[in-house]
Formats: sequence, C-alpha cells, structure tokens
Amino acid sequence: MKYTRIPHTDIRISKICLGTMTWGRQNTQEEAHEQMDYALEQGVNFFDTAELYPIPVKKELYAVTEEFIGNWFKKTGNRDRVVLASKISGKGHNGKHIRNTGFAKEAIIQAVEGSLQRLQTDHIDLYQLHWPERNTNYFGQRGYNAHLLDGWEDNIHQVLETLSDLIVQGKIGHVGISNETPWGCMRFLEESKVHRNLPRVLTIQNPYNLLNRLFEIGLSEISMREHIGLLAHSPLGFGVLSGKYLEAVPPRMARITLFPEYTRYSGDTAVEATRRYAQLAREHGLSLAQMSLAFVNSRPFVTSTVVGATTLAQLKENIGSYEVELSDGILEGIAEIHRVLPNPAP
Ligand SMILES: NC(=O)c1ccc[n+]([C@@H]2O[C@H](COP(=O)([O-])OP(=O)(O)OC[C@H]3O[C@@H](n4cnc5c(N)ncnc54)[C@H](OP(=O)(O)O)[C@@H]3O)[C@@H](O)[C@H]2O)c1
Repeated sequence: MKYTRIPHTDIRISKICLGTMTWGRQNTQEEAHEQMDYALEQGVNFFDTAELYPIPVKKELYAVTEEFIGNWFKKTGNRDRVVLASKISGKGHNGKHIRNTGFAKEAIIQAVEGSLQRLQTDHIDLYQLHWPERNTNYFGQRGYNAHLLDGWEDNIHQVLETLSDLIVQGKIGHVGISNETPWGCMRFLEESKVHRNLPRVLTIQNPYNLLNRLFEIGLSEISMREHIGLLAHSPLGFGVLSGKYLEAVPPRMARITLFPEYTRYSGDTAVEATRRYAQLAREHGLSLAQMSLAFVNSRPFVTSTVVGATTLAQLKENIGSYEVELSDGILEGIAEIHRVLPNPAP
C-alpha cells in the first residue's frame, strides 16, 4: 500500500480508503467484516462511513453500517489500527427522516454521540458534513438556480464552533466537508483563518472519476493551494467504470440494475464515454476499473480514493489499483476522450 497524510496533520492514511455504504443493503454484516479484515491485511487503514448509510436509504436501516463497523471493532480490537471517518447528514434529500435540522448545534452533538455509540469508540478521527445545508449545486445538478438562494442564513461560524467544542472534548479529531462547492470550501477556510480558534477543514469528499471531473474546475486549485485533501468518492461512477453495464446482458446483482433510480452515471453521453475509456484500457492491457482508479489515485490533489465493493474480488481489484502506473500514452488517450466528452455525469 502507499500512504499519505491528512493535510496539516501527521495522521498517516492509505491512498486507498475503504468505503462502506453498501453494507446493510447489498452486503451483510459478515461480508462487511470480511471486507474490513481483507482491507486491513492489504494495508488499508482508512475507513469512511456515515450515519446515513447504508445506501439506498431506508428509514428502518438508519446507521446500520456504523453498527456493523462498531461490532467489528469490538470483535477484533482493531479500532486503534484504523483512521475512522464518518459524517453527519445534511438537511433534506436522503436525510429527511434522520432529523432535518441541518447543522444546528444540537443536531451536530446528537449526530456525533450517536455515531460514537454505534461505532463503539470514543473518538472519530475525521468528522465530515455530508452535504451543504444551503441550496447549491451538488448530487449531479447541472445549471444554477439563483432563486434557490432564498432562506439560508450563513451559520458556518457556529458550525465550526460546535465542531471545535467536540474536538476539545476529544470526541472528534478533525473536520472535513463533502459534496461542497468552491464557494463553500473557501467560506469554511475564511472563517478559520479569521478566527484562529476554529478548526480548519482538512478534507473535501466529493465525487471524482473519469465521468465526472468537475472537481478540477475551481476546487482542484483550492485543494492544492490551501492544502485541502480530496477524498475522491464514487471513483468508478457507481460501478459504471468497470464496463459491466456495456455488456449485452446487464449484470444482475449490481447497483444500477437493482436500484434503477440511480441514473447519475448512466446517461447516453456517459455510456459513450465509458465505451471509449473501455476501449483505451483494452488497448493498453488494463481493466477499465484499474485504469479508472489509477487515474484518480494519481491526481496530485487526491489525498485518498474512497473505493466501494460488494465482493472481495472487486475489493481486491480496487485496492490493487494503487500499484498501477499510467503511461503517457494512456494519459494522452484519457485527455483526448475527456476533451471530446467532458464530464458526462456531473
Ligand atoms: N460523500 C458522499 O456523498 C459519498 C457519495 C458516494 C460514496 N461515498 C463514499 O465513497 C465510497 C465509494 O463510493 P461508490 O460505492 O459510489 O464507489 P464506486 O467505485 O463508484 O462504485 C462502487 C460500486 O461499483 C461496483 N464495483 C466496484 N468495484 C468493481 C469492480 N472492480 N468491478 C465491477 N464492479 C465494481 C460495486 O457495486 P455493484 O457490485 O453493485 O455493481 C461497488 O459497490 C462509499 O462507500 C462511501 O464511503 C460518499
């Protein structure tokens, strides 16, 4: 495994982070535990979860994924070997049934206490705000609806104050944002620059893959200049970048077949781009999944790639991508496809 650090800290994390959001829906607790055993054996010491998981969301399965992880910590005694990240759900969207009070002080405290209990730990190393509380562009939205600006009162100072208290109490270690925009990212930074007692956000967990490279516009420069690490989520575009949905018969037990409401990575242009990336990977003797992951792993603003898998075979292939180096020829091929079909799945 290759290692890096959470920016501005000496916390050493693997370049591959273990995503967990299928555990409790597509994966049983036993399978989840096998994935954690395997990942740790391979040197993966960074796990990402959320109170929202598993996905797709079901009210009665609230935070089951965290419970699986907590039970594994208890069973194996491995808590100290893992850098653990979790998230509080934002307002609206998938999280309405959780509390819908956004990042109010009581909401954050309640969310952290709940996660600590389920994870059977007294400390979450990286605590992330899952999506912005305000109306803005995320979760695949194109265009920009200025009228949606109505109603949000800037509470970023108070959010950071609450998180700061939790850091002082030792319940969380550091703070990250997720599905954020350049404005949101700079706004968080501004607050912690002006008020030095407030925590600085260290990471941003946004989608980043060959079908969605929007991070490169605006956020990549912030990431490099301000040292905010991208934790790249959905690096295979929900599995589309394995190429398996291009087959004449679509895979039966796979996310987009099982949950067709997930259309983000399946539009016509995304399919066409996937076809071209698949052809390029073939020409260079790589699997499409490994080429796609190696591309993400190698971008300078990526601190860690958050992989997801529903089988150990997938996990093996995905973790193994840390060793794959892309030649100039492949990178030129990727650049050419991206020039013709940029960001087909925002
Ligand atoms: N912050 C956020 O809002 C956010 C959003 C999404 C994800 N995340 C985090 O990022 C992690 C990864 O996201 P993701 O699951 O969307 O990642 P992804 O890499 O885009 O998709 C992973 C899915 O693709 C399929 N797959 C994975 N490897 C494969 C392979 N080698 N060959 C064929 N199929 C393969 C599996 O699903 P099937 O077997 O069902 O096909 C797997 O569950 C999550 O677990 C979560 O921790 C965060």
